[in-house]
This record gives sequence, C-alpha cells and structure tokens, in this order.
Amino acid sequence: MRTKLAAGNWKMNGTMAALDALEAIAETSVNGPAEVLICPPATLIHAARSRSGTVAIGGQDCHAAASGAHTGDLSAAMLKDVGADYVILGHSERRTDHEETSALVQAKCRTAWAAGLKAIVCIGETLSERDADKTLDIIGDQLASSIPDDATGDKLVVAYEPVWAIGTGKVPTTGQIGEVHDFIRRGLEDRFGTGIGGSVRLLYGGSVKATNAAEIFAVSNVDGALVGGASLKAADFVPIIAALN
Ligand code: G3H
Repeated sequence: MRTKLAAGNWKMNGTMAALDALEAIAETSVNGPAEVLICPPATLIHAARSRSGTVAIGGQDCHAAASGAHTGDLSAAMLKDVGADYVILGHSERRTDHEETSALVQAKCRTAWAAGLKAIVCIGETLSERDADKTLDIIGDQLASSIPDDATGDKLVVAYEPVWAIGTGKVPTTGQIGEVHDFIRRGLEDRFGTGIGGSVRLLYGGSVKATNAAEIFAVSNVDGALVGGASLKAADFVPIIAALN
C-alpha cells in the first residue's frame, strides 16, 4: 500500500512571511492519511521546520558532490542538516534553466540518498515531443537515465510533469495521465521487480488545482501530486490535500 503524497513546490517564491501559509497548511491538514510535503526556497527550510508540524519539508535541488568548491550551491547533507526530508531533483525548470542532464540528475540522486534524503525525480515531455508522438520514448529515456540502480520505494518518488502543463493551466486528459503513469509503473517493475517497482510513489504535476485534483487522483497509478502555484496559499493547497485523503 503506497502512502499518498501531496507535495508543494514553492519554487523561487516566498520570504519569511510565507511561513504563515505553511503554518496554516500544517494546522488544517493533520487529520488525513496522506503525507504532506512543502519544498520552500532553501533560505526558508530551517525556519520552516520549526513551524511545519507533521508537514514534511524538502529542498528543490542539491549539488551532485557531497561537499567542496562549488560557490552558491547546496549539498544534500546541508539540506538534511537544517531539516529537509526530501529533495526535488531534475525538475524541468532545472533541466532547462541549468541544462541539467538525466546523468547529472542520477548523480544528484545518489548523493541525496547517501545524505539520507528521499528524492523526488521529475520527468516529462515538452509539447513538441508530445505532438511528435515521442512522449513514451522521452519518459522511458528519462526514467532509465535519471534513477540509480539501487532505488527503493522508501527513498524514491517519481513525478511525471509534462513541461507544457507546468504553470499554464493546461492539463493532460486523465487518459493521457493514466497512459504515462502506467508506463512508468511498468518500467519501474521491469527494472526493479514488482516489489520495489510497485512501491515507488508516482506523482502527477502540472496545473493541479482544487478543481481538478479529485479527477486526477482517481487515475490509476497516481499516488499524489507535485503542486507549484496552488501550493503557495493554504486556501488553494488544503483542498488538494483533502482530495487525496
Ligand atoms: O513542481 C511543480 C510543477 O512544476 C507544477 O507547477 O502547479 O504551478 O503548474 P504548477
């Protein structure tokens, strides 16, 4: 049985005042079985930890090296040290803005696991790739190349985020989401066996809102969501958590 996960990615949004929203999320989402996670900017992780109650806290990226001369970067151990349980890796905004490859994402994943963090590895096709009927090829390649061989369901979460659905208000049909999630599940089971492959949680991400969450969560092999914009305010995120509970 996979524990449902409602994960909020605040991206580059939020100063200390934003922690009021985190507190409101923590106060109103304590009763359900779903796990709730907020990934604020790294500057807020330490303060967030002391105000998040049962809500888990995560980073949005880490360096592939454990430590060293990498000005401006953060290590997985640093995130863990200030209270993170999770780290998002390979988000399409990092793949695009910072030219991150799947090989780099895999290296970061290894480092994150070594530091005791759970990794949410993001994969997803662009609109031109979908239009060219290459979605499953892209997903298959990213899945194979971004995840290390020693994955387990305790330390890996996969997020399917079609790039064209992120922050656009465009959402794939439930049929399209189901096709990709079933494909990812089969890929994980083929590679890691049905025990491990069946225990990895699969999140959908891309324009999830209170109004479409229940429909998306009813799709097979959707174990929760990675939510951007709608995770910034408790009034928007709490109904999404409720739809999962
Ligand atoms: O990490 C979150 C995703 O990029 C989705 O963002 O919910 O604003 O579309 P969004």
